[in-house]
Amino acid sequence: MVSGRYYIGNLLIKKMKNKDVTILAIESSCDETAAAVVVNGREVLSNIISSQIDLHTLYGGVVPEIASRKHIEKINYVIEEALKEAGKTLDDIDAIGVTYGPGLVGALLVGVAEAKAIAFARNIPLVGVHHIEGHISANYIENKELEPPYICMVVSGGHTHLVVVNDYGKYEVIGRTRDDAAGEAFDKVARAIGLGYPGGPKIDKLSKEGNPNSIKFPHAKVEGSEYDFSFSGLKSAVLNYINSCNMKGENINQADVAASFQQTVVDMLVERALKAAKELKINKLALAGGVASNTAIRSAFKSACEEEKIEFYYPSPIYCTDNAAMIGSAAYYEYIAGVRHGLDLNAVPNLKLVSRN
Ligand code: KG4
Ligand code: ZN
Repeated sequence: MVSGRYYIGNLLIKKMKNKDVTILAIESSCDETAAAVVVNGREVLSNIISSQIDLHTLYGGVVPEIASRKHIEKINYVIEEALKEAGKTLDDIDAIGVTYGPGLVGALLVGVAEAKAIAFARNIPLVGVHHIEGHISANYIENKELEPPYICMVVSGGHTHLVVVNDYGKYEVIGRTRDDAAGEAFDKVARAIGLGYPGGPKIDKLSKEGNPNSIKFPHAKVEGSEYDFSFSGLKSAVLNYINSCNMKGENINQADVAASFQQTVVDMLVERALKAAKELKINKLALAGGVASNTAIRSAFKSACEEEKIEFYYPSPIYCTDNAAMIGSAAYYEYIAGVRHGLDLNAVPNLKLVSRN
């Protein structure tokens, strides 16, 4: 039995050419149990997501053990539903794609064990996928013409990465957060102003009623690393602002705080991403990750890219937050490059985004 991550030979890769590839993809890295059937990396036949958000809202954030238990409960139904909606059976599936990191270890293990069981029982190839590679690949689903090279600004609950996508599977991370992820900042600020979990969509909505220029929050820069981010100072500045208002007995205007905070994040993201595109002379820019569904972020990127004549790509909100269709897309490009995983595939909670050989 083959173990680890390995490549099939060029002859076998050649044999696969010109054949449609149908992938059953599984995602369970955080609080969404998801399965999808994707053909040739870009055609989504089904995309089933069982969200646990309501459950975790009770605790003000994701509780890892509860997440794993829910995944175990839901995963078989979600896969069954994905196959049914796609009009397929396991006989039609060419490979299983699964997120094996980064994420919550107990949550990842559920998807990985499920994927291995199906691959073993059916004797079909197994392809482990990096979660961020999945987020980036979400852009291929609706932008059929998008091809590397391009720059991708990945903003999710756990990650903030500025990535140069040189080719499929070839990534260069040129900027990252030094502390909190962008989504984490949204969630923490939302909690501080009393909006609850998950904060991102709530801040997005409330900001529409506020003035984004009413409060000046610091726009942190990381000394010596022009493309890196830092959000914890911004979060502290919002908390300090709220405390000082409380101490003075002044009411805070929630909408103004939300809109001003959001505007600061927008400015930080647009500034770094556009600078990278111009300096590296790459005229395509994409957004990815849960925070990429933010309406202010999308429209600011759209106008900045129009002004600089940079082509701008972004997935629909359903493909921004965690889903398995994006994993199916990423798995396809790994699969046709000959990447396979053995049945010893394990969950890797802190898996790094590195380029394929
Ligand atoms: O990509 P994702 O589903 O999970 C991770 O891989 O982390 O991202 C979840 C994050 C959460 O922090 C959530 O608050 C944020 O995405 N989010 C948003 C919006 N929708 C989701 N942040 C800002 N605006 C939104 N509309
Ligand atoms: Zn994610």
